[in-house]
Amino acid sequence: MSRRVYLDHNASTPVHPEVLAEMLPYFSDVYGNPSSIHGFGREAREGLDLARERVARFLKVSSQEIVFTSGGTESDNFAVKGLALAKGKGHLITSQVEHHAVLRACRALEAQGFDLTCMGVDELGMVDPDEVRRAIRPDTLAISIMHANSEVGTLQPIEAIGRIAREHGVPFHVDAVQTFGKLPLDVETLGIDVLSFSAHKIYGPKGAAGLYIRKGTKMVAVQHGGEHERRRRAGTENVAGIVGLGKAVEVRARDMAAEAERLTVLRDRLWHGIRERVPDVRLSGHPVRRLPGTASLLFRHVESESIVLGLDLKGIGVSAGSACTSGNVEPSHVLVAMGVSLDWAMGAVRCSLGCSTSADDIDYVVECVEPLVRKLRQAMPVGAA
Ligand SMILES: Cc1ncc(COP(=O)(O)O)c(C=O)c1O
Repeated sequence: MSRRVYLDHNASTPVHPEVLAEMLPYFSDVYGNPSSIHGFGREAREGLDLARERVARFLKVSSQEIVFTSGGTESDNFAVKGLALAKGKGHLITSQVEHHAVLRACRALEAQGFDLTCMGVDELGMVDPDEVRRAIRPDTLAISIMHANSEVGTLQPIEAIGRIAREHGVPFHVDAVQTFGKLPLDVETLGIDVLSFSAHKIYGPKGAAGLYIRKGTKMVAVQHGGEHERRRRAGTENVAGIVGLGKAVEVRARDMAAEAERLTVLRDRLWHGIRERVPDVRLSGHPVRRLPGTASLLFRHVESESIVLGLDLKGIGVSAGSACTSGNVEPSHVLVAMGVSLDWAMGAVRCSLGCSTSADDIDYVVECVEPLVRKLRQAMPVGAA
């Protein structure tokens, strides 16, 4: 088989064998509805309870503060809308570099009459905590700022923002989909009231995720139905998926520190390798305060989709930092917010490393990138990107 290298772990990850093994019985032997009171249901409920305990232990919180959902997108929507709608009309604070799950949930609330402050960021992608402080108003209902940016990897000053939120008594939601299970997360020190996480970014299955909701936080349900999840999120739980989420968290707690160190070395090898061979290339995001396995590379005067497709032909999976909407290629909203000019932003390529990534893989990618970018630049009139 020809060589394949997957460098898109921020998009999704393969299910870890230990996770899969733990999930399998829940597709065959343990099939009861966890809300049923008979033995079949109780068995499924035990799986859910264990997963809840594992997540709670990882975050050092009570298992009653964990609510399971169907994905990071649902968690973010639930957090933003649940916090806002709990108190009636008012003001929300978020940033321009959030995932669309937060940004568009905020925009939807704005369309319903909520006021929205969408904070800008500096050229490294960082929100300024002092600006958050200045944006807070007497009617501010919630602040939602992500932990790590999925595209450029920059880590936000969550602790400082958490402190400010607490001083003003404003609930603080953090989208930690890209850091949960990758970096230490202490909701107490960071001052977080609501936290989103998702299984498929940490070697768990797709369609299983959750929220930490600090006890006493005023939030309303946004999905209505039965009495599930202590009436906070209706709908029969995805038991197998949630069992997988719980196991994935346990595996990550064990492997996370060593993996972060290993990925940092590999990420630097990738960046240094490319920088040495390819002219006109930059690493976007913060040079130090960043996700260990993420390298967002900006190739000037090349279109990112051409690089992604060219590397795909070599069996390499990376993602483009620009998006094709209605036939037009648009730069990423994150890079635009960081003030990256179009000639760089249109050539954004994100490489996100993971468990299976080896030094050999990185060298292969570097070898493939250099001739590809050279060829694409030759084919493109100067300044046309
Ligand atoms: C920061 C962030 N938030 C939310 C999401 C959405 O998560 P999910 O794919 O589980 O819906 C993602 C996924 O890429 C993400 O990176």
